[in-house]
Amino acid sequence: MTDPTSDGHVHIPVLAQEVERLLGGRRDQDSLCGLLVDATLGAGGHSALLLERFPRLRLLGVDQDPEILSIARERLEPFQGRVRTEHARMSELDGLLAEVDEPVVGVLMDLGASSLQLDRPERGFSFSWDGPLDMRMDPRRERDAATIVNQWDEGDLADLFFHEGGERGARKVARAIVEARRRVPFKRTRALSELVAISLGRPIRSQDPSQRPQRPGKAAIHPATRVFQALRRAVNEEAEELEAGLEAARAHLAPGGRLLAISFHSGEDGVVKRFLASGARGGDWDLVTRRPVEASPDEVRANPRSRSAKLRVGERLSQHGDRA
Ligand SMILES: C[S@@+](CC[C@H](N)C(=O)[O-])C[C@H]1O[C@@H](n2cnc3c(N)ncnc32)[C@H](O)[C@@H]1O
Repeated sequence: MTDPTSDGHVHIPVLAQEVERLLGGRRDQDSLCGLLVDATLGAGGHSALLLERFPRLRLLGVDQDPEILSIARERLEPFQGRVRTEHARMSELDGLLAEVDEPVVGVLMDLGASSLQLDRPERGFSFSWDGPLDMRMDPRRERDAATIVNQWDEGDLADLFFHEGGERGARKVARAIVEARRRVPFKRTRALSELVAISLGRPIRSQDPSQRPQRPGKAAIHPATRVFQALRRAVNEEAEELEAGLEAARAHLAPGGRLLAISFHSGEDGVVKRFLASGARGGDWDLVTRRPVEASPDEVRANPRSRSAKLRVGERLSQHGDRA
């Protein structure tokens, strides 16, 4: 299922069938009753499917990006009366849920950026198209990607590219950025992506992604992919946000309620895995998935973004370590 938006962009919800199956667990369609918190509502793709499938479910949908939230609001109109949406970050969930008086039966996190953000040059996430070097999902944030690129010192930039992007040429890239910005500060995505490519000895052949060879599931990645991912994670404080979101799920899920987290980054998946494993040892969680659920070859063919998706699910136990 796709979610067309006013300008024709789409965001296809990943692992949709698995999310439906694993949210419900042993319960049938009518007995899943209570509040689902979609902590990364996006265009509302997963939420719409779940509201359709579970008629007694209500939704609190949260997203930090007001532009995307307005798309979700339109999309979720058919479910009026069962839906509340909030412009907020996962780190604000604890406060939002403190005011809720119905059982929270599910928390869904579909982490990272939406195609609706990545495909819009003016949002500054794209290394393929030129745009302002921004990358803020939440416009309330003061620090954008240009601030980091132009102000962080060389060592901090190198650590960021290595640890948050997995870029093995992190030191070379950081050195090249610091030299180049002495002449002209970075303002645009294209200037940065070209410099990254040159500093890694992999100049870009074509600016138009449609001109590059694509093999299903094996598309060569753009040389600036890892640096851009690292910058996006820093601008949006994705590591801190995830920690806060997981903790809010632990604090507010009712016994028997399920946490479903989809990650696209190995570091992020590791955080979810360790959080659930240590919670399972402490009697907070039952591990519903021992290994992450991944997309089938058919799904990867239809939606290449699903290639790196990993879904982990935990069920909240009661205070005595029992199931509901
Ligand atoms: C991959 S998309 C979600 C797509 C959605 N599941 C769907 O099917 O349409 C991720 C969304 O989460 C939002 N997001 C990412 N981190 C967030 C955070 N810490 N707090 C709130 N929203 C966040 C992004 O703005 C983006 O819209």
